[in-house]
Amino acid sequence: MAIQITEVGQETLITLQTRQTTYQMKVDEYGTLLHVYYGERVEGEDLSYLLRMRDRAFSPNPSELGIQIREYSLDILPQEYPGTDVGDFRQSALQVRIAGYTGLKLQFQRLQVSKGKYTLEGLPAVYADRDRAETLRIWMEDENAGISVCLLYGVLPEADVITRACEVTNERSDAVLLEKVLSASLDLPPEPFDWITFSGRHEMERQPVREPLYPGIHAVESRRGYSSHQANPFVIAAAPDTTEDNGFCIGAELVYSGCFLALAERSQFEDVRLVMGIHPEDFSWELAPGESFNAPEVIFTCTGKGLNALSRNYHRLYRNHVCRGKYKDVRRPVLINNWEATYFDFDGDKIEAIARKAAELGVELLVLDDGWFGKRNDDRSSLGDWFVNEAKLKGTIREVVQRVNALGMKFGLWFEPEMVSEDSCLYREHPEWALQVPGREPARGRGQLVLDLSRQDVRDYLFEQICSVLDSANIEYVKWDANRHLTDVYSAGEQCRSQGEVRHRYILGLYELLERLTARYPDILWEGCSGGGGRFDAGMLYYHPQIWCSDNTDAAARVRIQHGTSYGYPISAVGALVSAVPNHQTGRVTPLVTRGITAMSGTFGFILDLNRLTEEEKEEVRRQIADFKEMYELIQWGLYFRLTGADDPYRYTCWEFAAEDGTEALLQAVRPLAEANSPHQTVRLQGLKEEAVYELKLLRSSSSEADLFYRKRRRISGAALMKAGLPLAQQTGDAQSLQIYLKESQDRR
Ligand code: DGJ
Repeated sequence: MAIQITEVGQETLITLQTRQTTYQMKVDEYGTLLHVYYGERVEGEDLSYLLRMRDRAFSPNPSELGIQIREYSLDILPQEYPGTDVGDFRQSALQVRIAGYTGLKLQFQRLQVSKGKYTLEGLPAVYADRDRAETLRIWMEDENAGISVCLLYGVLPEADVITRACEVTNERSDAVLLEKVLSASLDLPPEPFDWITFSGRHEMERQPVREPLYPGIHAVESRRGYSSHQANPFVIAAAPDTTEDNGFCIGAELVYSGCFLALAERSQFEDVRLVMGIHPEDFSWELAPGESFNAPEVIFTCTGKGLNALSRNYHRLYRNHVCRGKYKDVRRPVLINNWEATYFDFDGDKIEAIARKAAELGVELLVLDDGWFGKRNDDRSSLGDWFVNEAKLKGTIREVVQRVNALGMKFGLWFEPEMVSEDSCLYREHPEWALQVPGREPARGRGQLVLDLSRQDVRDYLFEQICSVLDSANIEYVKWDANRHLTDVYSAGEQCRSQGEVRHRYILGLYELLERLTARYPDILWEGCSGGGGRFDAGMLYYHPQIWCSDNTDAAARVRIQHGTSYGYPISAVGALVSAVPNHQTGRVTPLVTRGITAMSGTFGFILDLNRLTEEEKEEVRRQIADFKEMYELIQWGLYFRLTGADDPYRYTCWEFAAEDGTEALLQAVRPLAEANSPHQTVRLQGLKEEAVYELKLLRSSSSEADLFYRKRRRISGAALMKAGLPLAQQTGDAQSLQIYLKESQDRR
């Protein structure tokens, strides 16, 4: 049993066990649900001896204790789901306004353990077979206020994951206003912790930031309507001495794509409270009598084995328990996208020419990006008018697809369904379908407005339009883009009782639309995108197994972006393509080998016109595609290791894919900037068998200097590679790279 309930006198001990971790809570004699422990696995122990009481001035004592007992205070004790204004001055998890007042004292009512993993109506969530997970439900209530909360815990023992979510119910006879419903709160002991977050911007997403959790508030948040490029709903609390390969760390990822808050508070007595959920700012939700509200899920994992191990827990979880559809397990086609090759300037012939050359070299899917619909020849019009521009394509979409299919390639199409251009038939007919405040001109982003996805009629329109295109031809891939953030968040629809609901209802509407579409087209490969990686989160991965990682396609920059992304997300989720040089975002010229190596650490493909390459380059492309297909399982399903940091541009950033059984591995290294007379660099590999001997094959490098270097180093033991390391060849020039394949040798000499 992964969930154990033990009665100890008047108290109840609740223990959740995964393969390597333990999570323990206790319902004490006063009905408070205390958090006892989350950490490395401890067997059969009541850890509540860790809880300490002490009379602390200015920390109030609950009324039921009378005036004699002063050691017990909610302000000091670790709790599972703290209420408001009852003596705990730290962050609360729930705030409900009832007749102007928001205090809530949540007390334990009952619990229930069941097989399988809970689901959340209308929200994406981790899923598992019935025998691979257990669910714990704990009901808490403030009887006086008439509010109850069901805390949900999903335990996935093999994945070393514990999920949390909650459902708030109005038990009163009048309506109440939810002002804050956070999904989870986790109290950590008064020990030093670093706080690792992933911030960024458009074209430079998810850069790790690590800082000590000093006293006070540390927050990462998005108020942009989407999870955003600027922040990511993923945080790590790590002991200060935690490295990639050693030490204690806890991760928390919110399965949500909208405005979020992740906040850590180090209190006066140095304990740390981590809360996470929908951002309370601009959120309010009227709950009628008997109604419930579901908060999205948080995925927790922890390990004593460092950040790489934490990441691998998430990688496995996303691949097996979040992503869905045919392409969860099936090899995805190597694709070519026309965006950076043509932008809006294409016709059917040009697309066919790009596809033809790509097919010759081994590419399997042509993606037609923005510009195929309405009268869209730039980014100022036609969003919302999902009618094929047959004049531009020189035929129907069916004919274009047939031309591509005739080359032996699949066909994919770009959509940006959530947006509308003012210059569109849709907007002229339905201006009220765009988010905008009556009487005020809305702010534009990329010249466009956002459709009000909280409205059923808008979603139905989009569903029908998208289906009618998808049904008209053999379309096997969809790229789902969204190129601005939400402003003027006012809905003219009737589904919202207050405008404070619109942001969340928008996301619920988005999920509903995606659910309908992905259920109807389970064989389509869906790729998420929001101006690159502006909605790279667990919520979107439930619908799209891959997400375009960034609009920055420069290999040297991508190494950093993908390195940061790897902390929380698997390689199979990372949309990565080889682009032309000089790069369109940075102007940098990088070797084709380096661009290939970088894109191979993702879904792999091309975003350029291969006709414009030299014969020699085309040969390299052909080899890259063949190698990628050959190593697909190792790259996509193997163990991923960050072997170095990615901050120093004068050093190689190294990462590795190793087979679970240690029989093969792939080492990749990119050094963004050249340095004269630079120091030597050696990298230690991981995940190999110490006693085995490995044959090294330099698959590719950006210069011939590396060939000479590795010619003499062909066979090295696992022990030597992991303990002494492998020297990295010095190569001159910027953006140099190495890709080395290692295979266990049958010949041990
Ligand atoms: C932003 C995406 O990230 C790009 O790849 C491309 O699809 C453009 N939008 C098209 O407008």
